Amino acid sequence: MVAAGPAPRYIRDVPKIIFEASLPERIKEATVLQGGALVDLADELRAAVPFSCRSATCGTCICQIIEGRHLLEEPNDDEAELLELMGGRSDTRLCCQARFMAGDGVVRLRALDAATSRSGDDD
Ligand code: FES
Repeated sequence: MVAAGPAPRYIRDVPKIIFEASLPERIKEATVLQGGALVDLADELRAAVPFSCRSATCGTCICQIIEGRHLLEEPNDDEAELLELMGGRSDTRLCCQARFMAGDGVVRLRALDAATSRSGDDD
């Protein structure tokens, strides 16, 4: 599912997923060859995203989508409900629920503090 390094030129319409982090050495990225679950990619890359329930219950894994929202599938009902309870910011997703699609572009995201995200303050 993950190609190390840049996408080979002959593969088209593959997204790059970038997990931002405060420390440069903790930034993780991968070019993915097909759609999939962010949680699986985060686990595979050991990205700086905290998880707890992994079932859209706790909000621990809330992330800000900095770039590339169009490459994510729409939130399922459970994710949409919890995001609304956490302030309803349009730029947030639950990393344990969100799925990315095949397509050309970049998805850039970073973990938020679950308590901070509840304020509803957009950056
Ligand atoms: S880990 Fe609990 S909502 Fe994602």
